[in-house]
Amino acid sequence: MNGVGSGAVVVNRAMSLDGFIAGRGHAMDWVAELLPVDAVRDVMAATGAMLVGRGTYDVARRMPDQGTAYDGGSQFVLTHRPPDEPDPAVTFLTCGVEEAVATARGAAGGRNLEILGADVAAQCLQRGLVDEVLVYVLPLLLGDGVRFAPATLGRIDLEPVATTRAGAVTTLRFRVRR
Ligand SMILES: NC(=O)c1ccc[n+]([C@@H]2O[C@H](COP(=O)([O-])OP(=O)(O)OC[C@H]3O[C@@H](n4cnc5c(N)ncnc54)[C@H](OP(=O)(O)O)[C@@H]3O)[C@@H](O)[C@H]2O)c1
Repeated sequence: MNGVGSGAVVVNRAMSLDGFIAGRGHAMDWVAELLPVDAVRDVMAATGAMLVGRGTYDVARRMPDQGTAYDGGSQFVLTHRPPDEPDPAVTFLTCGVEEAVATARGAAGGRNLEILGADVAAQCLQRGLVDEVLVYVLPLLLGDGVRFAPATLGRIDLEPVATTRAGAVTTLRFRVRR
């Protein structure tokens, strides 16, 4: 394993027990409610940059009071349509996922790169760009919403690395088999 804080590319997400990373209408209130920043402090400290898709960026902007306590370093947004007005908090990238991962990884300063969002994470998994999958399983069922991965993602084999529980949060860490 590349290990925490040693430059790994990590698909990182909170997930309901029934496999959703967002609820209906991209609801994310359940994450703010059930995943305190204290539960992710070590992971956050090990993270030097984050790469998200435009979908995640747009949802986060619609919920400006949520997730602001999380500081995972430089933020990169992969999009075909960068906004006319720059956002000083992020760098927009319009390129292939390989180049986006390389760029964001370069900004991580030797710490981990987190990949967030369903579509971009699936593309990275499909292309063999991911070292680890880190899932915070939260104690609820959502019934519907954005699945962990789109149906187009084929089989990806994983090797369990660690399972821990702190309060309501069960953290599962896997290494991606290549
Ligand atoms: N539970 C969690 O931990 C967690 C974490 C992150 C996100 N989420 C949730 O996941 C949902 C978003 O997931 P998602 O799959 O819709 O979005 P996503 O992966 O964040 O973004 C997908 C979008 O990124 C752009 N994109 C992807 N690949 C690209 C490429 N190669 N080049 C240029 N642009 C590219 C495209 O947008 P354009 O073509 O429009 O530019 C695409 O529609 C939201 O509800 C969010 O809140 C949950």
